[in-house]
Formats: sequence, structure tokens, C-alpha cells
Amino acid sequence: MSLLEQIDKSKTPKHIAIIMDGNGRWAKKQGHMRLYGHNFGVESVRETLKAAKELNVRYLTLYAFSTENWNRPKEEVDGLMDLLVRSLASELRELSSSGVRLKTIGDIKGLPDHCQKELDESIEFTKNNDEITLILALNYSARWEILSAVNQLIDDAKNDVFNAEVTDEVFASYLTTSSVPDPELLIRTSGECRVSNFLLWQIAYTELHFTEVLWPDFKREDLYKAVLDYQSRERRFGLVSEQLT
Ligand code: IPE
Ligand code: IPE
Ligand code: MG
Repeated sequence: MSLLEQIDKSKTPKHIAIIMDGNGRWAKKQGHMRLYGHNFGVESVRETLKAAKELNVRYLTLYAFSTENWNRPKEEVDGLMDLLVRSLASELRELSSSGVRLKTIGDIKGLPDHCQKELDESIEFTKNNDEITLILALNYSARWEILSAVNQLIDDAKNDVFNAEVTDEVFASYLTTSSVPDPELLIRTSGECRVSNFLLWQIAYTELHFTEVLWPDFKREDLYKAVLDYQSRERRFGLVSEQLT
């Protein structure tokens, strides 16, 4: 049986989040500059998105640029911003005709103007699509997100917009992911076993899948392996096995 045939399509995660890591090492291994790896990573995004859609995944969140990534060499940062704009411009029609809705999370106002413009237009262009939502985490960090939510809550409390108890649901509604369910599966490529400031609130009960595969080598079979790994887990949410049936 192929990997795809082994997947129970009625039990695929509704939301998969991916820390796309290893572009630089992939490029270096072949004697190229780091940006070469980032360029090849776009093909993995394309493949993963198609495979996710075919598996009935409703939300795919990709960690594309962290707030910490600004500290990389300027040439790499500029190259990543250009790659974002070029990829959106060249992929937009195809994305939209295949039913992809684009969303972002992160401090988008901190991105260069040309990136914000391309993102705004792409979000507007795809806003009525509903096959799958592709969420790009850009200038994102979970601590930034949590602190922004706390500060907004304090403001709303001061201004009497809000005067009730802060529950899980209320807090989640202040996060940038407010309209999106928590991911059931988080994948990180490149062998690093850390979450690097990604979705800290949302992954409280997420299944984690770490693979040695570097992001530019990540293809549909790798997504299938991750989903099969997810389907082999028993998600207990604090209960005991016997309570789950
Ligand atoms: C992930 O690959 C892409 C971004 C963080 C933008 P890296 O660029 O981190 O590649 P490695 O981890 O250095 O190999
Ligand atoms: C995390 O990867 C950020 C993205 C994938 C965008 P990094 O390569 O920046 O993370 P660290 O530095 O290895 O933790
Ligand atoms: Mg990295």
C-alpha cells in the first residue's frame, strides 16, 4: 500500500502548521549561497499545499519569517522579502483558481512597503476562496503575539470595551489566529527539535512531528509520513486511554 492509501482521510488534521527549516544548510551542502535554498523552498511550499488540499486539510500555516530573522545578514533578509513578493506575484492566479485563501499572521506593518502591498492585494484577491486557507507567518513571534494580546486586553479593559473574566476563549480571540482552530499537527523540518517562538499558545495540545528532511527536499510523501505519524498517536488530552472510547 502506498503512503497515501494508508492515510485515513476522514481523520486528517484540519490544521497543519509547519516550521520550514533547513534552507540554508541545503544550499550550503551543494556549494551555493543560502538564498539558493530559500528559492528552492518555494517548490516545497507548492507541493505541500497541493498535498494538504487533497487530504482535506482546511488550514496550512507556514512559518516563513520570524521576528528574530531580521538579525540575519541584510542581503539574506532583502532576498527573502523579494522572494516573498516575487512568489506571490507569480503564484497568485494559480493559487486562487485552485481555491486557496491567503491569510497572514505576524506584525505585517513591520514588513517593507512593497511586501505589505503585495500581501494586501493577494489577500483581497483570494478572500472568497474556501478550499484551504494558507496562513503565512511573517514577522511573527509567539511572544510578540501574546504580548500584543495582553496589551490590547488592558486597553479594552481601561476603555470599558471589556470587563469580564479573561477565559481561554476570550484570550484566544485576541490572538492573530482568532478565526483559526488550533493546529492538530506541527511539523518541523531539518532535524531541529525546538519551536523557535512559533504559536506557543496554540500548540498546547498539538502533536509534534520532527523530521531530518531539509525544507527544500520536503515533498508530498514527507507530508504523508507526518500525517500517518499523527494518525498513529493517541491524543488523550489528560484523560486515560479507557476514557477515550
Ligand atoms: C528556514 O531555513 C527559512 C527561514 C528561517 C527564513 P533557514 O534559513 O533557517 O535554514 P538553516 O536552518 O540555516 O539551514
Ligand atoms: C524558525 O527557523 C523560523 C522560520 C522557519 C521562519 P530559524 O532557523 O530561524 O530558527 P532557529 O534559529 O534555528 O531556532
Ligand atoms: Mg534555520
